[in-house]
Amino acid sequence: MNPVLRALKPYPMAELQRRKAELAKAGIRIHDFGTGDPVEPTPAFIPEALRAAVPVISQYPSVAGTPALRQAAAAYLQRRFGVAVDAATQVLPSAGSKEAIFHLGPAFLDPASGKDTIVFGVPGYPVYESSALFAGGRAHPVVLTREHGFRLELERLPTELLARTAIAWLNYPHNPTGACVDTGYLAGQVAIARAHGILLASDECYQDLWFDGCAPPPSILQVATTGVLAFHSCSKRSGMTGYRSGFIAGDAKLIAEYRRWRVHFGVGSPEFIERAAAAAWSDDAHAAERRAVFAAKYAVLAEGLAALGVTILPSQAGLYIWAQVPGGGDADRYAARCLERGIVISPGGFFGDGGTGWFRLALVPGVDACREALSIWPR
Ligand SMILES: Cc1ncc(COP(=O)(O)O)c(C=O)c1O
Repeated sequence: MNPVLRALKPYPMAELQRRKAELAKAGIRIHDFGTGDPVEPTPAFIPEALRAAVPVISQYPSVAGTPALRQAAAAYLQRRFGVAVDAATQVLPSAGSKEAIFHLGPAFLDPASGKDTIVFGVPGYPVYESSALFAGGRAHPVVLTREHGFRLELERLPTELLARTAIAWLNYPHNPTGACVDTGYLAGQVAIARAHGILLASDECYQDLWFDGCAPPPSILQVATTGVLAFHSCSKRSGMTGYRSGFIAGDAKLIAEYRRWRVHFGVGSPEFIERAAAAAWSDDAHAAERRAVFAAKYAVLAEGLAALGVTILPSQAGLYIWAQVPGGGDADRYAARCLERGIVISPGGFFGDGGTGWFRLALVPGVDACREALSIWPR
């Protein structure tokens, strides 16, 4: 067995699924705020596009993806961020963003050279770390703090670390805190990454989920299209977590190299999935409707938790609420107490250092179910 695999802790969300299954078996009604996997139906035109595209003869899909999907992704970037990218050379489909994030390490780390490190913020999405480790490189988590708005600030890292960093990950709106950034911050990070020969990767899977009256979160592509890659996903924007579809956009040279690497492991998405994804990227109305749904859940939970005396970090976007364990207690113990009542939450430690004393709620149950959960919340 690969020693990296042997040494790895269980994937936190897999552990959560196991605990949830145990409860369901015991007949307990579950309020699942654990995994960020929304329960609203996928808008009907998306499965319709898929069904219409299932072929009579099914052949291998291409890693480059269909021109139609690449063009739909490019058109979305233009509408949403005012960014012009060339669909042929600057867009590459992925089978959801998780695999594309994971595979970036093996493609762009050279453990034998000085450039062997991936830098990322914690608390955060765990895949940046596993990408570095499975690539034989070094993972460098940087603890993000509330005082700094949970921003990863490359300018604060030692020069020696920047010199050996191959990839730095940004993720705003941030999982798990919901922190957002502006283009000024992004431009600053691009400048430092350029100065140190770092590939700046921006995980933008929550970009279209902003709350009522808040500013739409920007893309890294608004400040640069060279030296950067943006990772987008149909999962949360369009209710398509099960379809596994996303795209990567940015630097044409990096896209060409990444495509060359991806040919080796058959990661091209089926064409019927790509047709459904192209339909999703071509429509903004359903994304606005979904946004309103998540904003409503956020409002109900924020108000209800405040009434229960739970402090939350106010957020403007994303799919999560980041909340402090009442009375400064231990998050694992608090999660266990919630679980006794069927309420599934993620203790902050799931997201690495910096999560201690906090917990995450994913905006998954519907508004009425959120109210129901609040009525039985442990005090
Ligand atoms: C920060 C972040 N990035 C990427 C992903 C992966 O999304 P997907 O593979 O469904 O596109 C997730 C999923 O929850 C996430 O929270």
